[in-house]
Amino acid sequence: MDKLRIGVVGLGQRGYASGAEYCGLIHVLNDMDSVEIISVCDELPDRVESAVKFFKDKHNLTIKGTTDYKEVVNDPDIDAVCIFCSWEMHVPIALAAMRAGKAVGMEVGGAYSLHDCYELVRVQEETGAPFMMLENACYDRNEMTVMNMVRQGLFGEIVHCSGGYGHDLRAEISLGDEMPHYRLRNYRTRNCENYPTHQLGPICKILNINRGNRMVALSSFASKARGLNDYNARILGKDHPRAKEHFAQGDIVTTNIRCAGGETITLVLDTTLPRPYFSTYYNVRGTRGMFSADTKSVVVEDKMPDKVELDWEEHEPIKDNVKDYYDEYLPDIWKEYDKSGIKAGHGGIDWHVLNAFVDMVRFNKPSPVDVYDAAAWMCVTTLSEASVSMGGAVVEVPDFTGGKWVKVEPQEEWKYSL
Ligand SMILES: NC(=O)c1ccc[n+]([C@@H]2O[C@H](COP(=O)([O-])OP(=O)(O)OC[C@H]3O[C@@H](n4cnc5c(N)ncnc54)[C@H](O)[C@@H]3O)[C@@H](O)[C@H]2O)c1
Repeated sequence: MDKLRIGVVGLGQRGYASGAEYCGLIHVLNDMDSVEIISVCDELPDRVESAVKFFKDKHNLTIKGTTDYKEVVNDPDIDAVCIFCSWEMHVPIALAAMRAGKAVGMEVGGAYSLHDCYELVRVQEETGAPFMMLENACYDRNEMTVMNMVRQGLFGEIVHCSGGYGHDLRAEISLGDEMPHYRLRNYRTRNCENYPTHQLGPICKILNINRGNRMVALSSFASKARGLNDYNARILGKDHPRAKEHFAQGDIVTTNIRCAGGETITLVLDTTLPRPYFSTYYNVRGTRGMFSADTKSVVVEDKMPDKVELDWEEHEPIKDNVKDYYDEYLPDIWKEYDKSGIKAGHGGIDWHVLNAFVDMVRFNKPSPVDVYDAAAWMCVTTLSEASVSMGGAVVEVPDFTGGKWVKVEPQEEWKYSL
């Protein structure tokens, strides 16, 4: 395939970012020589008009625009559909696109039901359509470096991983009626780990989930919901309906997961209280070493024999030393990217994930984040919702591979997919 012909559904902050280059994914795609944007779609007509005009004015490109995603998925001029819209429509559009024979690149989010997860798997298996969940966090510079180190045994046997999504989204959520945003309706109605995949993705890759290991059970607890009300009372006024309304979504949701291999995972969702900066809460803990993303600290006992006993009174805290491992363990795709001068959002991971998708479809490669990964990671949302509603009850995590997880070897090709 010479150029991959793409239709894009969802022209919000992620898909289009009002034309802001390097931010909206459509601009990252359009900058790739191997891609042709054929059409854009959003249910809001002004967003479609703006994007069509932007491409004409800025790039002299005539692209189709529509408010109906079915026109995109059924368009014979299109090879692949990229789904950048609100969470609720990810699965319906992905199913329609696969049934129409299109490759699917689907943005991240949680599932609304186990049925949706099973359907994703069933339809992908039936149609054979190329599918990739566009989990850019898997392509993070440090996550990929650490993944390489884990694969090479530097951390010993991995015992526990934690991760999460710490991002103060109070403004985005609170103004979600005036500046349409899907999070507001979700925070009104659901109480769950609503955004699990950013850290669960890299963690599952490290723990070989669906490839010799799987998640078997989870339990979630949600704190009370106070952050949005307090924020809204100050920003919108104490008598504003949104200052008084009941939000279902607890401010902090903590989920513990147990894996068949005996490892545990802790996930934290933290989006409605003040916090200084974005945090992934990412920690990888093994018998011989560890990584902590917030302090960018790596401990590899075998490489620091004098510090095996890390006495806190005698040693400076180890931080910002992950970069000392880049020479040896940063994957080549990152070294090449750094030399290339390409710029893309989230420090470059948006380019990496989209490039992996385009590469997968054009050259018929295995999906780096396949439909079994997507189902396993997304189902945490609906399972946590059930667990929270039952006071933290332990619930079973389904096996979406139908038993194939016991046979599959660890996914070596993932490292080399770009
Ligand atoms: N990977 C990342 O780093 C990252 C970052 C931000 C957002 N996201 C994901 O991107 C997605 C979009 O987020 P956003 O911040 O752009 O949200 P947004 O609300 O700004 O945009 C979503 C767009 O989808 C459109 N839409 C909804 N239903 C539709 C339908 N049936 N047909 C066509 N268009 C429809 C809406 O009108 C809106 O323009 C979400 O899944 C989010 O989780 C990922």
